[in-house]
Amino acid sequence: MKSHTQATVYNAVTPAVIEELIGLLGASNVLLEHERIEAYAHDETSAEEYGHMPEVVVTPVDANQVAAVVKLANRTGIPITPRGAGSGLSGGAVPVFGGILLSVEKMNRVIEIDYDNMVVVAESGIVTNEINALVAEKGLFYAGYPMSLETCFLGGNIAENAGGGKAIKYGVTGRYIQGLELVTPTGEIVWLGGKLAKDVSGYDLKQLVIGSEGTLGIVTKAIVRLIGLPTARADLLVLFEGPKEAIDMVPVIMAHGIVPTSIEFMDQLSVQTSCRYLNESLAYQDAGAMLLIEVDGTSAEQVEADLIAVGDLCEEHGAIEVYVAEDHNTMERVWSVRRNIAEAFKVYSPVQSLEDIVVPIAAIPDVIPELQRISTAYGMQIPCYGHAGDGNLHATLVKDPQMSMDSWRENQDKALRDLYAVTRRLGGKISGEHGIGIKRKAYLGELIDPVELGLMRAIKRAWDPANIMNPGKIFDLA
Ligand code: LAC
Ligand code: ZN
Repeated sequence: MKSHTQATVYNAVTPAVIEELIGLLGASNVLLEHERIEAYAHDETSAEEYGHMPEVVVTPVDANQVAAVVKLANRTGIPITPRGAGSGLSGGAVPVFGGILLSVEKMNRVIEIDYDNMVVVAESGIVTNEINALVAEKGLFYAGYPMSLETCFLGGNIAENAGGGKAIKYGVTGRYIQGLELVTPTGEIVWLGGKLAKDVSGYDLKQLVIGSEGTLGIVTKAIVRLIGLPTARADLLVLFEGPKEAIDMVPVIMAHGIVPTSIEFMDQLSVQTSCRYLNESLAYQDAGAMLLIEVDGTSAEQVEADLIAVGDLCEEHGAIEVYVAEDHNTMERVWSVRRNIAEAFKVYSPVQSLEDIVVPIAAIPDVIPELQRISTAYGMQIPCYGHAGDGNLHATLVKDPQMSMDSWRENQDKALRDLYAVTRRLGGKISGEHGIGIKRKAYLGELIDPVELGLMRAIKRAWDPANIMNPGKIFDLA
C-alpha cells in the first residue's frame, strides 16, 4: 500500500494483477522490463523531479481493452495514467503514483474519412500531422494542431486542448473536435458529441473532457472537423529594437481589423539559441526582438494587401525593418527556428522553467517590463517567445550556472509566484496551452477563484469516485 498527499491510498501492481492484465491484453501489450518502461517515466518537461516510473505499461489496441484495464484499476485501487506521445510540457502524462501507465500508441488507425461531412474519424494515438497528410490532396486540413504536430498524438492534443501557431485565426484543438469516444474513469465506453455542427442536448461533456488533462477519462477516438486549406499564404518578418517595442506592436495589429494567421514573437536570446541548436545562421539574428507574422486566405491579392497593410502599420510604429518572404525556403528556415526554440533551450539551459502565461491581448505590453523586473529581482535570465497574437507567451526562467541548485529552487518558486500574480492582475491565466499537470499544481489553488476550484473538484469526484484516473494532476482533492 502506498499513501500520498491525496486522501486516496493506492495498491501496488502485484504479480496477480500482471497476470490479469496479460489475460486481458496479451503479453505483447504488457511491458514490465525497466529498460522498456523507463521512457514512459517522463514527458518533455525539463527537470528530473517531474519524472516517476510506472509499475507496468500497457498498450491496449482498442476501447474495449482500455475499458477492461480501467475496470481492473477501479476494482484493485491502482492508479492509471493515460499517455499520448509524451510530448507534453507540464508532466501530465507522468505516473506520479506509479501504477499502470496506459499508452494509446497502438490505437493509431484512421476509422473513416467522411468528405460529405468534412470530418476524419481517427483513434487517439494517431500522429496529429498524419490527418493533414491524408486530406491535403483534397485541399483540406485540420487547423487545430500545435507546434509539435509532427510528433504529438491527437489524443494528447485533446487532453491538453493544445494550441499552436495558427490559433489567432483558426482557434485551438477544441474547436475542431466534434465528437469523441471516451472510456470514463469507471470503465464505461461513451460517445460524446458527433458529426454535428451544433449540439445543446444536455451539458457539453465533450468540451469538459477536452483540456481535462486525462483526469476525466481516456479518449480512444475522435471526430475531427476539416476545413479548406488556404491557397495563399505570406509571411512577414519584422525586426524591432527590443522585446518591449515588438510586443507593444501586437495589440496595435490585432485591433486594426486584419486577422493574421499568426503573430509569433521571439526575443534575441530565443532566436540565437535556436539558431545555434539548428546550426542555422539568419541574417537578422542580431535584432533585439522580432515578430513573425503570417497571413493566409484564398486570394493571393487579398493576402498581399493584408500583408502590406500590416507591414506599413509596423513601420509606422517604429519597426526597424520589415522583410517580406522572398521565397518559401527562407521563410521555412525562420519558422523552423521558431518551432525549435523550446527544444534548443532544453539542450543548452536544461535547468529552467518553461512558462505558458496567457493574458488579454491589450495587456500583453505590460508583461515585458514585468519579466525584466522579475529577471533582475531573482537573478535569472528570462528569455521569452510565443504566440503573441493570442496573448500567450513562453517566458522561460533559466538558471544561472553560478547559482546553486538550492538557491535556484527557492528563487524559481518566488519568481513564478511573482509572475503568476502579475498574470492574474492583468486578467490572465497561468497556462494557455501546456496545462497545469504536476508542474503548476502547487500554484493553481492560489490563482483561481475557490468557487471555481470547488466545482472542478466536485466534477472530478463525480466522474472518478475511486480517484484512479491520472491522479495527482491539476489539483489535489483533499
Ligand atoms: C512552442 C511550444 C513550447 O510554442 O508550445 O514552441
Ligand atoms: Zn507554444
